[in-house]
Amino acid sequence: MDTIECIKTRMSIRKFMPDQVPKELLMDVINTAKHSPSYKNTQPWEVIILSGDKKLALSKMLVELLEKGTKPCPDIPEPLSWPASEQARIDDLMKKRTAATGIDFSDPAVLKKSKEVNFNFYGAPHAMYLYQDKSLTPWSLFDIGLFAQTLMLAAHASGLGTVPQAVATDYAPDIKKFLDIPDTKRLVLGISIGYPDKEAAEKALRTDRDNIDNIVKWVE
Ligand SMILES: Cc1cc2nc3c(=O)[nH]c(=O)nc-3n(C[C@H](O)[C@H](O)[C@H](O)COP(=O)(O)O)c2cc1C
Repeated sequence: MDTIECIKTRMSIRKFMPDQVPKELLMDVINTAKHSPSYKNTQPWEVIILSGDKKLALSKMLVELLEKGTKPCPDIPEPLSWPASEQARIDDLMKKRTAATGIDFSDPAVLKKSKEVNFNFYGAPHAMYLYQDKSLTPWSLFDIGLFAQTLMLAAHASGLGTVPQAVATDYAPDIKKFLDIPDTKRLVLGISIGYPDKEAAEKALRTDRDNIDNIVKWVE
């Protein structure tokens, strides 16, 4: 697949086929992602891949924490507010999602259900977590973001689907304990990965992007 086409056709996949992805293919995807650039080539990224019973057990633990009303404690705090332009894009997405599905996403019960499906990794056969040392600076968070995007593009080019999930890090201390990751590490992002349910992807709402005139300034 051509690079431009890969970038433009990637989308978050929220329904997966149950088939396991061969370990070699998942490792190939990460082997490609590791070519991402990073500040002074520090490569501040670590990846854990979960499958099978362990993935199911983690989902169960996360759903139980949610059911108990446990307060989320992600290593990267959820933003409490946004600048006006970013908030407008969130509002636009929510409006379109509601129009497409008839679901009111501000309803707390819907929000809870949405967390539950996130914790079940949208039915994907594999879940990944990206993490890095907590002492690293924002530049390294930037680097792991580049790594995440390269990984998702490499997955897409290999016929796999992904969805990045901040919500999957909600209970970071419990997740790290479960995965044997020391608390000196920062859990950055969960990513569900597997073969996409193509029919569902075709029907899913495609997110749009702001007009280029709103993000670019020419100075000449
Ligand atoms: C850092 C980050 C965190 C995200 N967290 C979640 C999440 O917790 N759950 C989810 O379903 N999607 C999550 N997303 C996916 C975004 O909603 C999605 O990327 C955005 O709406 C654009 O849609 P697209 O990926 O289909 O292009 C996240 C994306 C990013 C980059």
